[in-house]
Amino acid sequence: MTESQQSHRKDEHLSLGVHSWRQQPQIIGATFDDVRWVPNALPELTVQDVNTSTVMLNHRFSWPFYIEAMTGGSQKTTQINQQLAEVALETDLAMAVGSQSIAIKEPDKRESFKIVRKTHQDGFLIANLGANHNIINVRNAIDMIDANAIELHLNVAQELTMSEHEGDRSFYWLDNIATIAAKSPVPVIVKEVGFGMSQATFNLLQDTGVAAINVGGANGTNFAKIENRRNQDKLKLNLDNYGFSTVESLLDAKMSQNTLPLIATGGIQKIQDVITSLMLGATLTSSAGYFLHTLVSKGQDALVHTINEWQQNLPLIYALLGAKNTSELQSREFITSTTIDNFIQQRQKK
Ligand SMILES: Cc1cc2nc3c(=O)[nH]c(=O)nc-3n(C[C@H](O)[C@H](O)[C@H](O)COP(=O)(O)O)c2cc1C
Repeated sequence: MTESQQSHRKDEHLSLGVHSWRQQPQIIGATFDDVRWVPNALPELTVQDVNTSTVMLNHRFSWPFYIEAMTGGSQKTTQINQQLAEVALETDLAMAVGSQSIAIKEPDKRESFKIVRKTHQDGFLIANLGANHNIINVRNAIDMIDANAIELHLNVAQELTMSEHEGDRSFYWLDNIATIAAKSPVPVIVKEVGFGMSQATFNLLQDTGVAAINVGGANGTNFAKIENRRNQDKLKLNLDNYGFSTVESLLDAKMSQNTLPLIATGGIQKIQDVITSLMLGATLTSSAGYFLHTLVSKGQDALVHTINEWQQNLPLIYALLGAKNTSELQSREFITSTTIDNFIQQRQKK
């Protein structure tokens, strides 16, 4: 792939990513609406006493959500990264950058990622690379933005929906993940990009030494759809009904041998989705497509406003449910729909 082709791909991901959030999404499996919170008429606390921070990766995050990995690597995406970093700075959020693989191959693209650290100087920033990268590239990506952690993304479905010339066809990643986890100077997170994870994957990741798992579930941005739209001419691989939703991935983690902290991503577009994810076992959550769509279609101030609203509502909902802090919220009761009960029944047999 030539230099301009890779930059072009980043721009296409951006515009198709935004476009896909304008459409009615195809729903896969259980959604956040399949989980209902048990009401609490006697919370016995004051809103001022509520603490919505959460601890993960040896760090206390002021808020249990952050801006997830999206972009970098072209002129247009430099501007988006700067805007996202300005929003993260103004709202005191952590932020992940998009895959830095392009900047490792083409050093002149480094600025499109470095802008994030220049803007959000004291922020918690997360580097991003595919799970096939070696430790030299991982150190390079971390140094590039002086990252506090790094995400290694797992994107098999995305690679397979790309044409043969662009996408990978070989997926031996597990040993490499363990090597990177042993050598990385910062905590390593393994993340899916929107197709979710199952018990088998959670179990395989337990002995790799990674610090956290991002379940990256379905019902938000769908990269199989995005790649199919990009490659109009190629023979398409339809994966519209493939994957576990974020809710299902979190439930499957509970039924696995997982002991690692979890991040929930995939289709989170309101503060209620954040709350439900925490109740289902996540310690932290993040959103990509919804924030990007808000930024691009409504502007930077609108994104700040949306995040401020989430931040204002969060302690109110903790109080509503009688939770003084995030760990109390994580143990709050919920009830589930028959869709979830059916899922659990089938998956418990594994
Ligand atoms: C435009 C766009 C580009 C993305 N690029 C990356 C990437 O480079 N690396 C990565 O790990 N995830 C990438 N993602 C996936 C997101 O980090 C996230 O896992 C996924 O979109 C699901 O979250 P969402 O439903 O909130 O969008 C990208 C998402 C979008 C919308």
